[in-house]
Amino acid sequence: EDGEGAPWREQETWEGEQIKKASMRVGAQDRAAAAAQYDFVIDDQIEFIKDQALAGDLDLDESAEAAEERERAAAAAAAKSEFEKLQADRALLPMYPYRDQLLAAVEAHQIVIIVGETGSGKTTQIPQYLHEAGYSKLGKIGCTQPRRVAAMSVAARVAQEVGCKLGNEVGYSIRFEDCTSDKTVLKYMTDGMLLREFLGEPDLASYSVMMVDEAHERTLHTDVLFGLVKDIARFRPDLKLLISSATLDAEKFSEYFDYAPIFRIPGRRYPVDIFYTKAPEADYLHAAVVQTLTIHVNQPRGDVLIFLTGQEEIEACEELLKQKTRGMGSKMGELIIAPIYANLPSDLQAKIFEPTPPGARKVVIATNIAETSLTIDGIRYVIDPGFVKQNSYNPRSGMESLMVTPVSKASAQQRAGRAGRTAPGMCFRLYTAWSFQHELDDNTIPEIQRTNLGNVVLMLKSLGINDLMNFDFMDPPPTQTLFRALEQLYALGALNDRGELTKLGRRMAEFPLDPMLAKTIIASEEYKCSEEIATVCAMVSVGGAVFYRPKDKAVHADNAHNNFHRGAVGDHIALLNVFNGWAESNFSTQWCYENFVQVRSMKRARDVREQLLGLMDRVEVQLVSNPGDHDAVRKAVCAGYFYHTARRQKTDSYRTVKNPQTVDIHPSSGLREVLPRWVVYHELVLTSKEFMRTVSEIKPGWLVEIAPHLYSKKELDDPSARKMPKGQGRAAMVA
Ligand code: CDP
Ligand code: MG
Repeated sequence: EDGEGAPWREQETWEGEQIKKASMRVGAQDRAAAAAQYDFVIDDQIEFIKDQALAGDLDLDESAEAAEERERAAAAAAAKSEFEKLQADRALLPMYPYRDQLLAAVEAHQIVIIVGETGSGKTTQIPQYLHEAGYSKLGKIGCTQPRRVAAMSVAARVAQEVGCKLGNEVGYSIRFEDCTSDKTVLKYMTDGMLLREFLGEPDLASYSVMMVDEAHERTLHTDVLFGLVKDIARFRPDLKLLISSATLDAEKFSEYFDYAPIFRIPGRRYPVDIFYTKAPEADYLHAAVVQTLTIHVNQPRGDVLIFLTGQEEIEACEELLKQKTRGMGSKMGELIIAPIYANLPSDLQAKIFEPTPPGARKVVIATNIAETSLTIDGIRYVIDPGFVKQNSYNPRSGMESLMVTPVSKASAQQRAGRAGRTAPGMCFRLYTAWSFQHELDDNTIPEIQRTNLGNVVLMLKSLGINDLMNFDFMDPPPTQTLFRALEQLYALGALNDRGELTKLGRRMAEFPLDPMLAKTIIASEEYKCSEEIATVCAMVSVGGAVFYRPKDKAVHADNAHNNFHRGAVGDHIALLNVFNGWAESNFSTQWCYENFVQVRSMKRARDVREQLLGLMDRVEVQLVSNPGDHDAVRKAVCAGYFYHTARRQKTDSYRTVKNPQTVDIHPSSGLREVLPRWVVYHELVLTSKEFMRTVSEIKPGWLVEIAPHLYSKKELDDPSARKMPKGQGRAAMVA
């Protein structure tokens, strides 16, 4: 596999004398020497060149003192109770000395911008300080997080520190999961959930403080929140607003919030040596594994953090690491592998925070979540392949896809910084110094400028914000993207031709789902299959794979999976079959094993389904079931996804109908070999090429029946004739 792709890799065998402890450079000699102790071979080594150290604004003496103090405190804490230990830890955070000053600033100003390095204690401490100072007597203290995992794990930590059960005084709320109660006064939530709360409580009356955290991430929802909270701050002078960020360019936030004062928490950071590969890496996953093992045999203690792009990669990396270390356990320290990504169940997430036992080394394999949202103590080595999975959206074609993209320079610096939080560290970038200089953008583009806005526009319209062109965005989305969203909502029937929300649109907005999915659910009533559609929607919403296919049992897995596709005319029905099969087995875990289905995904789907049924009840979508009618299910899917249709070409590739582009059926689809003439797909993913994922066969006649304003019979017979949406033109819809 390597040879060709990677001519620069040296093939080294391990011969030498003695391991050199504490060697701080990754040199061939050191590696060879280190390996002598072990009877295994790390197959291809990577050569690095060292670059500048990423030193913080730190005063090393002071930090040495701080470290000493920490050790003293740790020793003192050893005798104390768990709760007292936590309080001692709190007092050691960089944020702590500034507690009173911060409270004074919040007292004096309605809006405060807070800037501090990751790990200062912004997220866990500030809401507690405000709680201790009595703000929670006036209303809840809210804190938003861009990521669900962060909201959950931070809330769990704060509940420990406060000394309560999670869900009591401290709770969290994420999509499809509300872990709060009447008692909750410290509420962590995703930015998307706070947006939803606006629908029920447009002035956030139940809150005394709102902290919009991780503002630097500039997620779509955070950006929209900026505009909304800025607005309510004007007519709710009693509401305190905190905007916190891990990066230094806070001026922009300050300026946007009418020159709100900036509160800077002085950083403590140790120098981090940066290493680049000499030549580009063909396979970064493999390179990351090799580098982890190299660190493990060569470097002094300290945990490793690897940044990968998603669950699949993380699982592959975990597997590869386990394979390579199998059988060498007794010869070297234990390697504890701790993955973390959005869909990891919360009990497993806790593993990343568990202290590493002496002699062992922890390897945290994470998505971008570990860049700033989560602080993991004890990391000294960062491995950064330089990629992230990101939305991209082309408003011209209306194409949206999730793809693996190079990170920005700012992002790479944040990642490197994770190695130097508690001691000097090292960061191995699996790309060249030249790439860093010339190929990476300076900053990540805010999500609002690279994503489909359908959902957000629907939400804003439901909040009565009609004039989107003049909404106070910090960085406005491209006009064309806004037009597209309006056009699509119009086509779905959520807006009328004056751009006003219709009754259907109002019902759609109740669902925390993409408008196309929400439309599917509402349309399912008409096709008399709302029970089935609730299941299908839950299954497509869980994120993460449903099927798995272990290499050593590939044939068994394929057979099991084929059963679900038997007689199915697409993946939507297959997913329905999976869920129904599981339900018939009485939701048995054994059933999942036997059928090579991910039990975690299934449990999540069951929860999501329950929630959807509740929402359907609320907007009065009648529950009807028609188990045998697969056409009905596919028609309902079509009613939401008629924009996502494609027709097979002579080449056996597909061409999307509305915004012609060449796409293929994803290899995971049950239709990958069937290649029906017409299909509807759930989403596009861009890997080696543009793939349609979760695909069902349709009849072109359905399109004319379901979306006559978009499709004509003539057009479907002759793809060169395209029909434009009816209506009084785009301008009318925006006004
Ligand atoms: O928000 P910021 O990056 O400034 O820091 P934080 O998330 O409040 O984290 C402060 C400290 O809390 C970290 O250094 C961790 O030691 C600890 N923490 C934890 O142990 N478990 C968590 N789930 C979150 C934080
Ligand atoms: Mg934080």
